[in-house]
Amino acid sequence: MAIDRFGRNIHYLRISLTDRCNLRCIYCMPEDMTFRPNAELMQDDEIITLTRLFASLGINKIRLTGGEPTIRANVVDIVRGIAETEGIKSVSMTTNGLLLSRLAQPLADAGLERVNISIDTLDPDKFKRITRWGKVNEVIDGIKAAEAAGLTPVKLNAVVVTGYNEGDVVDLAELTVKNPWQVRFIEMMPFAGATEIQLTQMVTAAQIQEQIEAAHGPLEVVNGGKLDGEARLFRFKNGLGDIGFIASVTMPFCASCTRARLTSDGVLRMCLLREKEVDLLTPLRAGASLEELRKLILETIWEKPWGHGLEDGVIPLNRVMSEIGG
Ligand code: 5AD
Ligand code: SF4
Repeated sequence: MAIDRFGRNIHYLRISLTDRCNLRCIYCMPEDMTFRPNAELMQDDEIITLTRLFASLGINKIRLTGGEPTIRANVVDIVRGIAETEGIKSVSMTTNGLLLSRLAQPLADAGLERVNISIDTLDPDKFKRITRWGKVNEVIDGIKAAEAAGLTPVKLNAVVVTGYNEGDVVDLAELTVKNPWQVRFIEMMPFAGATEIQLTQMVTAAQIQEQIEAAHGPLEVVNGGKLDGEARLFRFKNGLGDIGFIASVTMPFCASCTRARLTSDGVLRMCLLREKEVDLLTPLRAGASLEELRKLILETIWEKPWGHGLEDGVIPLNRVMSEIGG
């Protein structure tokens, strides 16, 4: 078991497969973003080696992220390799959904269990504006493909940005009336790359909930108000799905955080919003033994920061969001 000095059992690893993306969401990265050369990224076998190491330390849950994980070459084989690793109980993915019409079934067959798909508005023009060129219909096709392939329950992620999609939250929430989906609203967090927008155009979870309740009346609490992962869940009275609020900024859930992140260049990052990182890929390539790497991982996990420092104005600027993975 891998435990940090605050007693949190770290059993959940998010692995970024690439820092590249086929979109450029305005809250995630600048339009002229430059990406890492492939040689700097973990190669397929290195991902599997590191997954095995983490699994041997008690990590049993993996989420694949990006950038956009589905644009990584051999993504299906990578999923299969991870799913077959001894000790790994679940493999899921966060994706923008654009390629799921083609990939949902092969990914499911390879052992992927679920997907979280990002969709910030249902309006094609607004979607294009927020992603800089995306077509919302392709995402909707991807959601349907994910459902058909059994990558369920489908969770949809929406980041709400003033001046872009703050008027669209009721439409998004209403998707849960007729679909057994979980629509989750995520508070925008500040990183490098789009810091100005992130700091000045953030909409709080409370403001989003108010808008939905103004249109529909009070939402019903799910789970007695307990957090489901990082989301507080609600539902419409007769809705098939849930509405979640992830208030990372206004109500941090750091105390119950059990995750670590491995960036696409093989660096272990213990908090999304803290700059501190420990490189694993360089020692792996230099021939470090598995025992040495295990020790390095355990030490880094032990030193996991207590939580983020946004209230104190500490913003992580060493990477943009897509270089860390959501
Ligand atoms: N704040 C909060 N969420 C973000 N995402 C991307 N950038 C940010 C940000 N600055 C979300 C995406 C996606 C997930 C990977 O992270 O919308 O759902
Ligand atoms: Fe790509 Fe996701 Fe970033 Fe949008 S938020 S640019 S889809 S990585």
